[in-house]
Amino acid sequence: MSTPVEQLLIPEVATPHLPEGYTILALETSCDETAAALVRDGRTLVANVVASQLDTHRRYGGVVPEVASRQHILSLTPVLEETLARLPHGWADVHAVAATYGPGLSGALLTGLNAAKAIAWQRGVPFIGVNHLEGHIYANWINPDSDAALPAEPCFPLLALVISGGHTLLVLMRGHGEYQVLGQTRDDAVGEAFDKVARILGLGYPGGPAIQQAAAKVQTSTALPRSWLRDTYDFSFSGLKTAVLHKVQEVQKQQQRLDARPRRGRRSGEVGDVEPAPPAPEQLPEQYVAQMAHAFQESVVDVLVAKAVDAAHRYGAHEILLAGGVAANTRLRSELERRARVSVRYPPIWLCTDNAAMIAAAAYYRFDAGRQPDWSLDVRPNLPLR
Ligand code: KG4
Ligand code: ZN
Repeated sequence: MSTPVEQLLIPEVATPHLPEGYTILALETSCDETAAALVRDGRTLVANVVASQLDTHRRYGGVVPEVASRQHILSLTPVLEETLARLPHGWADVHAVAATYGPGLSGALLTGLNAAKAIAWQRGVPFIGVNHLEGHIYANWINPDSDAALPAEPCFPLLALVISGGHTLLVLMRGHGEYQVLGQTRDDAVGEAFDKVARILGLGYPGGPAIQQAAAKVQTSTALPRSWLRDTYDFSFSGLKTAVLHKVQEVQKQQQRLDARPRRGRRSGEVGDVEPAPPAPEQLPEQYVAQMAHAFQESVVDVLVAKAVDAAHRYGAHEILLAGGVAANTRLRSELERRARVSVRYPPIWLCTDNAAMIAAAAYYRFDAGRQPDWSLDVRPNLPLR
């Protein structure tokens, strides 16, 4: 009888007893950041290196999966070297290795997962696979500065609003690693909506920070509709995005009509009178763009905050936390703090967007709970949070 290939290739590494305050090396390559980090005792940040591919993808207006995978392969070694340089004894100080195995782009995930498994196998240390969304949540308990006091322990049950470029989830956590998804988006993720609306307004990629910056230029704007989806904690953002698109198209048509007015001394329809093309989004008036960005952001923030506050109250959550790239939005943070009836927490801005420190932090709690995956773990591009 033949032996399955996996059994031939996958080594038997006994789970060692890890020393007190052990250090985890983590890799994160689920999308367009090649990241490595070292975290001690699950909370203290030792090193955090992120090689962003933003400049590569910006010219395409979004992430190109194949380009992302290739770039991860190129960046992994230098990023790892820079990370390891922070440890006095290098590899000898690494007690476990973790990597994101989903959700994300499959080719991109593969690069980090395979690298992490290879390192763990070669070093004879445990390998831990982590859910990217779980990582975003665990960014909230990382101490970014070893001289500062540790952030308070999580106060369960808590409500987590996980908002990124690919996900929008309202999650109830009753303990470490225990997730009950109360609601999620039915169409666009909230970060995706920010990115698409930014493109409509000619603000470039990534859209979230650009919209926030444009919105800050005005105090008020005409309200856009709110997508409440009554009696559910689900969300929908694509209608709002379409509302922005229609309004912008109206303005572009008006601009086009103005440009088409017959010039002095010429009559409309005269030979040589060419119909002007609609103006590019980049040619929209700055004040108008700022007002649309403001109105869009207000609409999104209003719905996110209202649902989070309501769910926290209904489920008796002791705190609300923000996680994911959109958690970097300062308007969302302040509005949630103003309306929430329990305490609110969010990671520092640089730990909101993709990084590997959050993966190391989540790995620590997984390992502690004995949830160590086997070596045949494969990438899961649509991995749910549970
Ligand atoms: O978590 P993340 O880095 O990657 C994913 O896991 O998707 O999130 C990226 C998303 C992008 O859509 C980006 O536009 C959004 O986070 N984002 C923001 C802000 N900073 C980043 N959205 C709103 N306001 C921000 N300040
Ligand atoms: Zn992310």
